[in-house]
Amino acid sequence: MPRPIQAFVHTDALRHNLTRMRTAAPDARVWAVVKANAYGHGIERVFEGLRGADGFALLDLDEAQRLRSLGWRGPVLLLEGVFEARDLELCSRLDLWHTVHCDEQIDMLSRHKTQVPHRIFLKMNSGMNRLGFTPTRFRSAWTRLNQLPQVDEISLITHFSDADGPRGIAEQIATFTKTTEDLPGERSTCNSAGLLRHAHDAAVAADWVRPGIALYGSAPDFPERNIAQWDLQPTMSLRSRLIGTQDLQAGDTVGYGSSFAADVSMRIGLVACGYADGYPRHCPTGTPVLVDGVRTRTLGRVSMDMIAVDLTPCDAAGHVAGFGSEVTLWGKASNGVVLPIDEVAQAAGTVGYELMCAVSSRVGFTQN
Ligand SMILES: Cc1ncc(COP(=O)(O)O)c(C=O)c1O
Repeated sequence: MPRPIQAFVHTDALRHNLTRMRTAAPDARVWAVVKANAYGHGIERVFEGLRGADGFALLDLDEAQRLRSLGWRGPVLLLEGVFEARDLELCSRLDLWHTVHCDEQIDMLSRHKTQVPHRIFLKMNSGMNRLGFTPTRFRSAWTRLNQLPQVDEISLITHFSDADGPRGIAEQIATFTKTTEDLPGERSTCNSAGLLRHAHDAAVAADWVRPGIALYGSAPDFPERNIAQWDLQPTMSLRSRLIGTQDLQAGDTVGYGSSFAADVSMRIGLVACGYADGYPRHCPTGTPVLVDGVRTRTLGRVSMDMIAVDLTPCDAAGHVAGFGSEVTLWGKASNGVVLPIDEVAQAAGTVGYELMCAVSSRVGFTQN
């Protein structure tokens, strides 16, 4: 028997979240962002739930190829464009749209031999200072691209640094709008936070939106708002089982470093899940967890293959949890109770993105 830990990918929840994203900007087309193997869910496992999108956006040519193998004939956008000249051949062959964010990519394109001109998303660095042409260089890049026979339509794209926080998007959207004022082409500006928090701004909701994390049931601005408030559903549930129990007396300690000591007698459970499964080692005592759908907490240090959990709330609820009881590390328990991934991420000092991407290869996945 394999260890009882499993990750579930929920197709209905993906569908629900996609519909939710559409309602935020009903006139825009939606790129479902599936980079990093669909935020750790697996491209093949999210395809059914997200195939109602207008296109898929990702980074990796191998992942683009996998999407085509699934039978997706619609738009696929490479968010970082090509990394070397020969990638352009694959773009031609697989009909991939690609971002152009630097002169080197224009140089490669100018030398590329292709029968069919490429659809380009020209990227502006409107203030985030990751990829893209600065506003002063953007228009000359556009002019250069526009003169290439290898280029078909040019769309315009930028990315927000603070759509989820108090700084917001005002400065970046003003820069982008002003610099692109009289340029033709479709626009794409916003990620999940931009879409949920700022889609009332017409420039934000324009043409194409690019939600990622919200599609996967994590609130982009947690803890300001949670998934229930945004009407999002968890798309990944990490579940395991209790593989043992212990009765502690006051003063007994738990796990490596004895970092938790019982102050009264209590029952604890041992869960088949540890940091080698991708559960964060930084989660302290008190991190939320569900045992048979009853909310409780972790105790002591997370070890490689095990976590200890407090069974007091289960006992108090009149439910005797024991060997084989279901444990939900995040997502939805079998009885429907939800533990948002954002709460676990917060306890570990990180974000839902990192947790979903970090589920390790020894965890089996099931689609349901
Ligand atoms: C260019 C671009 N667009 C859209 C997204 C989706 O962002 P989010 O997952 O925050 O919605 C990302 C992700 O980082 C990105 O890099």
